[in-house]
Amino acid sequence: MSRIELKIEVYPAAILRKRCLPVEEVGENEINLLKNMAETMYRNRGIGLAAPQVGVNKQIIIADIGRGLIELINPQVFSPKGKDKMEEGCLSLPGISVVVKRPKEVIVSGLNRRGKRVEMRLRGLMARVIQHEVDHLRGTLIIDYVNFIKRFSLVRRMKRG
Ligand code: NI
Repeated sequence: MSRIELKIEVYPAAILRKRCLPVEEVGENEINLLKNMAETMYRNRGIGLAAPQVGVNKQIIIADIGRGLIELINPQVFSPKGKDKMEEGCLSLPGISVVVKRPKEVIVSGLNRRGKRVEMRLRGLMARVIQHEVDHLRGTLIIDYVNFIKRFSLVRRMKRG
């Protein structure tokens, strides 16, 4: 089956604010979605993507910071360690970036495309990207990390392009 580039949902699309549902069973639909999400992320030069960003209300994320593709279904982040600040962008918020404070190190667990449980300790950029994508599954965006005034000016900047 060929890979399809999906349409990226851009703020303020309602789906970006929804809580995503866990995947009960990893099947053909999820595998096709993972493939199409990867196609979409690479074509848009992103380093991470969450299913709601392509209009699908499921707990599925992918990431690739240049060391290979990571796919996670029903991801859970735990055991945070340390703190780190870094500027983040988002394909659903084109043209803006926000400095976000997050744990430096986390453990992430979830299912792979074969439905097998995987767990990884992540640090640095990879830990950051995964936390950003897991945020998407709860309807959280980078603009939620700044105060109301700053958020207002960022959103205005985005709309002007
Ligand atoms: Ni994002």
